[in-house]
Amino acid sequence: MSPRIPKHVAIIMDGNGRWAQRRSHPRIFGHIRGASRIRKIVNEADTLGIRALTLYAFSTENWGRPEEEKSLLWKLLIKFLKKEEGELAKNNVRLRVIGEVDRLSPEVRAVLDPAIERLSGNTGLQLTFAVSYGSRKEILRAAEAFARECAEGKRKPEDLDDQLWGNFLWTGDMGELSDVDLVIRTSGEYRVSNFLLWQSAYAEYIFIEKCWPDFAPEDLRRAVETYSNRDRRFGALTPGPKLSALHQELPA
Ligand code: IPE
Ligand code: IPE
Ligand code: MG
Repeated sequence: MSPRIPKHVAIIMDGNGRWAQRRSHPRIFGHIRGASRIRKIVNEADTLGIRALTLYAFSTENWGRPEEEKSLLWKLLIKFLKKEEGELAKNNVRLRVIGEVDRLSPEVRAVLDPAIERLSGNTGLQLTFAVSYGSRKEILRAAEAFARECAEGKRKPEDLDDQLWGNFLWTGDMGELSDVDLVIRTSGEYRVSNFLLWQSAYAEYIFIEKCWPDFAPEDLRRAVETYSNRDRRFGALTPGPKLSALHQELPA
């Protein structure tokens, strides 16, 4: 039987700095090596039949890092886009970003925006970079936008339900793919760090000890295999013995 494949996998690509420091290199070495892993992971996700892959590349909190580190991270994003757009196009990959794109520099936007536009008609793997992303910020912006539409008389507070709310989030145009099935975090940290809080409400989590620069296609494959053996109950019960049979075992 073929394993159950998660439709949407989201990865917290963590541990670049520690990977480098453990090898007595400056942190930026880890970012360079980490960025170079992305291509293979995207290809593996596609091969496995994953339909959406979201990569956490830069959080709202990461703005607090030294200028030198941040500017390298933006350079790596630009480099990735310039180098990989052709391959993404060939593989029918659609590209999105979620996050405070308005905080990104004109240099980043000048490469990012046209690449997103050119790949926007693609129907294969839905690849999303979370940049300047923070779930709390996303939720606050959604709340603000919804409140504004209410104040303008376009909506009423009682219109709100899960689906409508989802449309106000940055993942709004992903439709049924916006819910995350599997979150993977590398580097042995067991926390969520403000990532996709709404969208991961019923996600499975897999924490991997390896740092991101060592994360390989086999690790993604193994994580998907582990996922496929998990019992996702969504608050209901796993089909088991009939209730009538259980009743018979209860003391009179
Ligand atoms: C993840 O690696 C990349 C980003 C957050 C941009 P880190 O830079 O967080 O590396 P560690 O966690 O300090 O090792
Ligand atoms: C989360 O990693 C953000 C990204 C991987 C982009 P951090 O390294 O920023 O998170 P904390 O500080 O360990 O929670
Ligand atoms: Mg980190």
